[in-house]
Amino acid sequence: MSGEVLLQVSSVSKRFGGLQALSDVGLRIERGQVYGLIGPNGAGKTTFFNVITGLYTPDSGTFELAGRPYRPSAVHEVAQAGIARTFQNIRLFADMTALENVMVGRHIRSRTGLLGAIFRTPAFKAEETAIAARAHELLAYVGIGQLADYKARTLSYGDQRRLEIARALATEPQLLALDEPAAGMNATEKVQLRTLIDKIRNDGRTVLLIEHDVKLVMGLCDRVTVLDYGKQIAQGTPAEVQRNALVIEAYLGHGASTTEQEQPA
Ligand SMILES: Nc1ncnc2c1ncn2[C@@H]1O[C@H](COP(=O)(O)OP(=O)(O)O)[C@@H](O)[C@H]1O
Ligand SMILES: [Mg+2]
Repeated sequence: MSGEVLLQVSSVSKRFGGLQALSDVGLRIERGQVYGLIGPNGAGKTTFFNVITGLYTPDSGTFELAGRPYRPSAVHEVAQAGIARTFQNIRLFADMTALENVMVGRHIRSRTGLLGAIFRTPAFKAEETAIAARAHELLAYVGIGQLADYKARTLSYGDQRRLEIARALATEPQLLALDEPAAGMNATEKVQLRTLIDKIRNDGRTVLLIEHDVKLVMGLCDRVTVLDYGKQIAQGTPAEVQRNALVIEAYLGHGASTTEQEQPA
């Protein structure tokens, strides 16, 4: 496959005090791919996500989205550019319903704006109805349509992760970045997650996936980058990466026992 490059990132470095969390990391994601970012705990995967989604300012790095320079400097600009993400530690509005959580994601695309909301203009009300309808669709799409009116905190971890995906999709992103979406899921839920990510790709979106479950990564990803101690140690197809001696060593050396390390809060 050699399609259009959606995201090209080069030479990203990020230091926290004495710790070099990322050194000279780059990757190139083609439109329509599921791209895997893997590596042992602490390798810098989430930091990389935080850089490309504007939460952390990198010390260096260049970014191009769909052929244009892209500066991930503010979170709302990232969303406008068409990148949405989920978080390793689930960040939902716990006391809002599943539906409301998705509607919040949708509102960043809303046109009537704050004044419309305050004065509840007809245009605002019409838009609100449309947003609710789309939110219902998205909940059904990720497989939790029946949970629309439940508060987020009452959902299982697996369903909360699905809800986060629905909320991210509400921005209609070109690139959906998922930070360990399978964490806290049981085997059945993982199979469903795999089917969902496949569907998202088949529906024309591009996915960047951080994942610990090697089986899930190998089955889903078109290409993979492996990080270890902030450095890129391998890049290629899942099969190529799996045979790479440095990767095997990184996983056996210090990552093997941390596969299920972090449960959502
Ligand atoms: N905001 C931060 N301040 C200081 N250190 C951080 C911060 N974020 C991440 N780190 C450190 O950077 C390294 C990489 O972390 P992270 O990107 O979360 O790894 P991963 O997601 O691959 O498990 C770790 O050593 C972590 O402690
Ligand atoms: Mg992480």
